[in-house]
Amino acid sequence: MKLLSASEADLIVAAQALREGKLVAFPTETVYGLGANAFDERAVARIFEAKARPTFDPLIVHIARLEDILMLAEEVPENAWRLARRLWPGPLTIILPKRREVPDIVTAGLSTVAVRFPSHPVARRIIELAKIPIAAPSANPFGYLSPTTALHVIDMLGESIDYIVDGGPCDVGVESTVIDMTGERPALLRPGGMPLERIEELIGLVDIPGHDEPSVDEGLEGAGEKDMLLFEHGFEHAETQGAAQSLKSCEKKQNHLKKSPESPSQKSPGQSSSHYAPSTPLFLFDEESLPEAAKRKGILHPCIALAFNDRRAQVLRDSGLFDAVQILSEEGDMREATARLFSLLHDLDEAGLAAIYAERVPDAGLGRAINDRLYRASRNKKVPS
Ligand code: TXA
Ligand code: MG
Repeated sequence: MKLLSASEADLIVAAQALREGKLVAFPTETVYGLGANAFDERAVARIFEAKARPTFDPLIVHIARLEDILMLAEEVPENAWRLARRLWPGPLTIILPKRREVPDIVTAGLSTVAVRFPSHPVARRIIELAKIPIAAPSANPFGYLSPTTALHVIDMLGESIDYIVDGGPCDVGVESTVIDMTGERPALLRPGGMPLERIEELIGLVDIPGHDEPSVDEGLEGAGEKDMLLFEHGFEHAETQGAAQSLKSCEKKQNHLKKSPESPSQKSPGQSSSHYAPSTPLFLFDEESLPEAAKRKGILHPCIALAFNDRRAQVLRDSGLFDAVQILSEEGDMREATARLFSLLHDLDEAGLAAIYAERVPDAGLGRAINDRLYRASRNKKVPS
């Protein structure tokens, strides 16, 4: 693996490497992606290998000019154009009917393709210079937390990829919002960095499959198959990872991930409910229901409680139940909270904790993406309740 900077000379190297079928990790405004030439099946196959990602989970294809959507999509409905024109470049992925030329390995054999035009200047420049659409999932082992810094990528995948471009930490911090524009009505497949409200302003109401998921951690234990079913039609999961990470903890992660349930019959095939998970058990509670609910369940030590803002942090500290309290955003700023979420979880995952106790945040705007990722993180634990 070679580390590149965001200088023009280095971006030329990265673009050339992509043209030659190499794997290049690069920053986007959401998370770091692991890129390959979308029209080079062998290069794309290496992405699946590097991530240990099942091939039934399709990839997002990244472009850097609006008109390149036509290289990938057979047809672009009017409302999809509207979203593309108004919200791109930005953290939005649009599912469209695919052109025959798009290799099946990219789309996992589906008749649709996921297209995204990222706003990060480094991502845009690499794609422009490469002059090819770039297939890029988040640059993490399958099922784990997505990387929001180059160091996260080095720690998780450094050995299996050719280049990593360091463009600093990602601004948004959670993956793009995925919206399916191929059905009768638009459907939200993954809440993410583009708030649903902005999408609905442009194209009206969007279906939210599986929206009635159980929300309280206590309600999840034993919810079992019903809950899984809801999520099969529901959102995508987060994958993230902590800061400086040893190989050993990577192995631990891989083992832990092998246990993740995944079903090829899902609507968006990568959307198992236990994605985006740290290795440390994470317990999720309804907004403002910590610490009472956690106390009833019994608390594992050492542990930390994750508070949305200063006010909640004070309540959690005053309870005396937790060994430490971490705050997503002191002022309760949703953007800051989103940007910090994965990097905080990466760090906490390195701290040798028995448990992380988290509260849902207000469920609007970016809060929806935070709650989705916390929920998925909470699905991966294998500890007695
Ligand atoms: O922000 C992001 O979207 C990042 C950056 C790198 O762009 N990428 C990302 O990719 O999160 P990935 O592969 O980790 O997540 C893509 C999600 C998966 O859940 C996948 O199942 C879904 O998009 N997806 C891809 N193609 C699809 C399709 N044709 N139909 C339905 N879902 C699709
Ligand atoms: Mg991912």
